[in-house]
Amino acid sequence: MSERVRLKRFDPLPLAGEGLFDRQSDETQLVALTIETKYQFANPSGEIVHEYLLPSNADMHNAGGYVDKLVKYRDPALRKHLRHSGVNAVALFDERFPILKSRSPRLDFLLFEWIRIIRDQQNGGRVSLFDLGCTVCEHWDMLDAMLQAASDGREGAASALSYHGLDKSVMLLSIGRLLHSQVEPQHFQLMRADGAQFDFPPESFDLTLSVGVVNHVSDPRISLERMLSVTRHAAVLALWVTDEKKGFWGMIHSGLAFYVFSLQDLLGLEQIHGGRFYYTDYIPEEQGSQQKSLVGVGVERIKHIGCYHLVFSKRGAPPFQALPLAHAADRGKDL
Ligand SMILES: C[S@@+](CC[C@H](N)C(=O)[O-])C[C@H]1O[C@@H](n2cnc3c(N)ncnc32)[C@H](O)[C@@H]1O
Repeated sequence: MSERVRLKRFDPLPLAGEGLFDRQSDETQLVALTIETKYQFANPSGEIVHEYLLPSNADMHNAGGYVDKLVKYRDPALRKHLRHSGVNAVALFDERFPILKSRSPRLDFLLFEWIRIIRDQQNGGRVSLFDLGCTVCEHWDMLDAMLQAASDGREGAASALSYHGLDKSVMLLSIGRLLHSQVEPQHFQLMRADGAQFDFPPESFDLTLSVGVVNHVSDPRISLERMLSVTRHAAVLALWVTDEKKGFWGMIHSGLAFYVFSLQDLLGLEQIHGGRFYYTDYIPEEQGSQQKSLVGVGVERIKHIGCYHLVFSKRGAPPFQALPLAHAADRGKDL
């Protein structure tokens, strides 16, 4: 005999209006935080009746999540779709491939547009790309899918890119290497380092990329400065930003310190690095996929925070629709 059980989601930790870390206080308090990853099962009155613990290792979570993305990027059906529909904004919003409208492919599409222009300017030479927080180098695969689709298979990431990935995790880099063992090693270089502690000469890479990682390296402002310095044409970034006057430090669910940049932090870098920030998207944290990621930040403060899809261009306006970030500081953020 089998018994049917219908499970309903419940929220074990609703956000408070004001979070523990929202108050500007001079007091130095010690907060003990225990991080566990688990399923909790509650009865209708919210009482926990059963818990199922999962491993809490961030490298394992990232390996699972990002190898899954890479496998989806290699799916022959997805590649066929891009080849038939063309690599364009409409093709990214096809219901059959929901992965394509997620953040990373949308940012890869911006890189793809730049890569084509740089390739034209260089008469087909390789475009160098620095991927900060590269995980398993899954961006290489999405760019490969786009380049192959747009050239009817004549070129791909293996022939068009010189890829340099940096990550702090040996495990993720090893997986990244294994999954790209077919790529010539001189055009696929990986480096283990903290994201604020790399050192390349200015303008070493045509393009640079980082998806959220700059917010949580050891020194986010130095990391961003270094990224912009090593960029020759453009940097493509997802960054969490507040519209409050000053940026602030918080902590994310995995226990990592997290710096939320202010718009002024970013705009202050434009003159120093001879370029301009543009944005193609702004996703308010209230609508993000991990709304409670920032520990101790309440509903009111969350309203000021969001993720910008940014391009820092040293070569004038980007080759796609984007607004100068300075407009977001002056007016609303709507595109
Ligand atoms: C959630 S993933 C996001 C990056 C992913 N490649 C993407 O584009 O969406 C975070 C990655 O950043 C790496 N990471 C976290 N802190 C770092 C640090 N301080 N320096 C370098 N990499 C870091 C992690 O190992 C992981 O691969």
